[in-house]
Amino acid sequence: MGTDVVFSDVLIIGSGIAALSCALKAYEEGFNVVIVTKGKRPEDSNTDHAQGGIVYKGNNDSEKLLINDILNAGAGATNPEAAKIVAQEGPNLVKEILIDKVKVPFSRNEDGSLDLTEEGAHSVRRIIHADDLTGRAIERSMLKYITEHTNIQIYTSHIAIDLLTLQHHCKNPIYVYRHPECLGAYVYSIKEGKVKRFLAKATVLATGGLGQIFLHTTNPEGATGDGFAMAYRAGVKLINMEYIQFHPTTLYHKDAKRFLISESVRGEGAILKTPDGKPFMEKYHPLGSLAPRDVVSRAIHEEMTEKGYKYVLLDLASYMDPDRIKARFPHIYETCLKFGIDITKEPIPVVPAVHFACGGIKTNMWAETEMKRLFAAGEVACTGLHGANRLASTSLLEGLVFGDRAARRIKKKWDELSQDFPEPVPWVDTGEYEPDPALIQQDWITLKHIMWNYVGLVRTEKRLKRAIYDLRHLWWEVEEFYRKAKITRQLIELRNGILTGLVIARAAYTNRESRGCHYRKDTQKN
Ligand code: SIN
Repeated sequence: MGTDVVFSDVLIIGSGIAALSCALKAYEEGFNVVIVTKGKRPEDSNTDHAQGGIVYKGNNDSEKLLINDILNAGAGATNPEAAKIVAQEGPNLVKEILIDKVKVPFSRNEDGSLDLTEEGAHSVRRIIHADDLTGRAIERSMLKYITEHTNIQIYTSHIAIDLLTLQHHCKNPIYVYRHPECLGAYVYSIKEGKVKRFLAKATVLATGGLGQIFLHTTNPEGATGDGFAMAYRAGVKLINMEYIQFHPTTLYHKDAKRFLISESVRGEGAILKTPDGKPFMEKYHPLGSLAPRDVVSRAIHEEMTEKGYKYVLLDLASYMDPDRIKARFPHIYETCLKFGIDITKEPIPVVPAVHFACGGIKTNMWAETEMKRLFAAGEVACTGLHGANRLASTSLLEGLVFGDRAARRIKKKWDELSQDFPEPVPWVDTGEYEPDPALIQQDWITLKHIMWNYVGLVRTEKRLKRAIYDLRHLWWEVEEFYRKAKITRQLIELRNGILTGLVIARAAYTNRESRGCHYRKDTQKN
């Protein structure tokens, strides 16, 4: 094999909590593990941006209570088996991996106990956090542990282009009759400017989310839907893609990129109010400002469209002592202050923005996809845990549990996975010219507007039809462009973003029933 080949037992694409959980377990099971991430730094992931917390165990809490809360939030579309597994295994893994092994500095009370916070639709306080930067604390602690205690190789600035499959990338024409199989991925090294083959007996997609394909999102720059698109192109099934969760409260300010105001702010007592200071959530749901996210987001949207408001207010200052606000939410306090808003003295102007993909690559309860040797975990995967609407602070937990499960499954199936591994063909470069950044930028703007306006919080057949029409055209243009231009990270992401958008629009068009975060204004409610 040539120098453009990196071979491992387990290839993990992505570097958030699902990826790191899988990497740690796979390493401990004795495998040679390689992680590739497009980020310049390994911590560049969605996980690093999570504010609120991770579900643990509350006082008077039980597996049953947690399962009920997950099912209630999921609006009747949650897979009960996934909820059971996460409720049974999640809190134990939080203790074993996050608290005891990698020693995440979670916030503690004066007596040394873990500080428990609340978020929407949880029946007890059961969420642990590290101030308001929980994801960052988890991500950095896991990476530190991996660097200090393992020889897992992490390739940064390496972006996967496509999965390598038996059917698409091997010379033997009779492979087309075999069950589909994944053999790794073509990966573009951004610094070296070349494409390499990363081959592995097992490949795990843990590429995170897709928020960047919408105009307004809480997600970081890298959330361009890469894993969804790669899986789709390889012929792997995606499900529940219409269920795109909006976060109800992101900062509304002309210079802020939809900065997240954590749900735990409402969990600690903040109340949503109209711009003239009137609480409004009670008329939409008995849980008021702590109702499930889909309800809160649509209520805000309704207030805004009915009354012509540009935003609503989130009032914490009237309900929490200023010193406590600064201690509990230091990051949110500092960030809002930079934009001239002192949250200890005044309410925060907020609007909803895209936050999380509840659907994704269909997996079983062992993170296996329908393609042999291909696993998926975290936001890119769909175990069915989130149904039609995710319960707050369950995404990190899901990544932890199913990353770990993927590695355990690989171990169990190793005899089968290690047999008969055909070599895929090398990459052939067809790029003739440098891609024009102005075209890429314009296509991104077009995509984001289509998704926001036609595939957003409130959907109709007309809007979705228009979205599909426009996205198909854009997809065709960009596929042509992709085949002739030299590869860049921006071009790969654009190609993925458009395809992911198209998959979402089609799913939203096909499903005429409003449920959870998929709201069809023109058809019946469930
Ligand atoms: C938040 O802090 O509101 C985000 C937590 C989550 O999405 O689970």
